[in-house]
Amino acid sequence: MQKIAIYPGSFDPVTNGHIDIVKRSMKLFDKIIVTIMHNPNKQTLFTTQERLEMLQTGMKDINGLTFAVFDGLLVDYAKQRGAQAIIRGMRAVSDFEFEFQMALMNRKLNRDVQTIFLMTGLRWIFTSSSIIKEAAKFGGEISDMVPPIVNQKLKEKFKS
Ligand code: PNS
Repeated sequence: MQKIAIYPGSFDPVTNGHIDIVKRSMKLFDKIIVTIMHNPNKQTLFTTQERLEMLQTGMKDINGLTFAVFDGLLVDYAKQRGAQAIIRGMRAVSDFEFEFQMALMNRKLNRDVQTIFLMTGLRWIFTSSSIIKEAAKFGGEISDMVPPIVNQKLKEKFKS
């Protein structure tokens, strides 16, 4: 049986932290479906199409990835795609409460899908899409935290 995982997120935009998580997860799974999903608590800067393009370009060198967009419940999508696991990256303690809540809700909704947490690489522990967007908005140098396409798209978004 193929080991399949969903790696869900807003990916607004994808960062090197996300790429690190996916690379390491590929050692555990045969196939990973990187899926853009709707987080009702966030308003996105980039459109779904822009986020998808940045994901595909930023992760193009990683074999075994499939990209998707799904607007609905994560566990429903996992079931639909025959995935046994959901991958989430965990950074500092600040992530814990939200991740814990989400993992338990997902488990309540479908006990057959397991959430697997990977600790974010130390290099990326203090980075997030939100803080990168904020820095980029005010002209901060973020090129070593995101793939080149994201750096370029952020510059375009915030050029005045
Ligand atoms: O990158 P994010 O914003 O932390 O990702 C969160 C996301 C999109 C994975 C989460 O909000 C999600 O799963 N949304 C889909 C709806 C859902 O299934 N929510 C969790 C159980 S209620």
